[in-house]
Amino acid sequence: MQRRFSTLPPWIPNSPDYWNQVYLDEPKPGWDLGAPSPLLAEVLALAPPLAPGARVAVPGCGFGHDAAELARLGFEAWGIDFAPLALEGARARYGEAVTWSAEDWFTGELPAFDAVFDHTCFVAMEPARRGAYLDATRDRLRPGGLWLGAFFHDTQGREGPPFAIPREELRALVAPRLDILSLADALQSHPRRLGREFLVVARKAGG
Ligand SMILES: C[S@@+](CC[C@H](N)C(=O)[O-])C[C@H]1O[C@@H](n2cnc3c(N)ncnc32)[C@H](O)[C@@H]1O
Repeated sequence: MQRRFSTLPPWIPNSPDYWNQVYLDEPKPGWDLGAPSPLLAEVLALAPPLAPGARVAVPGCGFGHDAAELARLGFEAWGIDFAPLALEGARARYGEAVTWSAEDWFTGELPAFDAVFDHTCFVAMEPARRGAYLDATRDRLRPGGLWLGAFFHDTQGREGPPFAIPREELRALVAPRLDILSLADALQSHPRRLGREFLVVARKAGG
């Protein structure tokens, strides 16, 4: 996900306009795997089982592969992305099997979720917003809800985004907000990312 778009305004990842321009400039963005991340199945297997029909959100869902996979697995899947072109691409690929929402993850009106799956949304954020992102994520989970995700710990020395985060740094950010159940090396990463990702399962107190 190197930034190599000459026509873009300065890097303002908080803005839907910015991301829309990214999709305009690069209809096949570098981060897009064209299929669900193999780490979705891996992290689901690490986590306490979700009930059939559980409501699961994918913030920053892009073209919607992971949200569509969650729907296929029998969950009430929500794909949330504030860039209109992302959701246009998601709908074109997967129709209405998923509830697509154009809300901003930080501020939008959304229901409470049983789980949230993060794949290259957290690492696309400016590092200064990570705490606020985790606050928003915790607040969107019902008590006992799960935060599941896959994260780069190494972006091979490239300037972000994505902004890599060492595992212990993520632990320090998450621990005051959510109970960490598992922090593990990712074993089934896409070949392009092999050996550079880890998985998190964390739970909101209560429930
Ligand atoms: C790097 S892309 C990842 C897309 C997808 N998760 C994937 O792995 O293919 C990050 C996505 O997050 C979206 N995004 C960034 N900040 C957001 C926010 N605050 N609310 C909703 N979507 C956001 C962007 O529009 C972009 O589509």
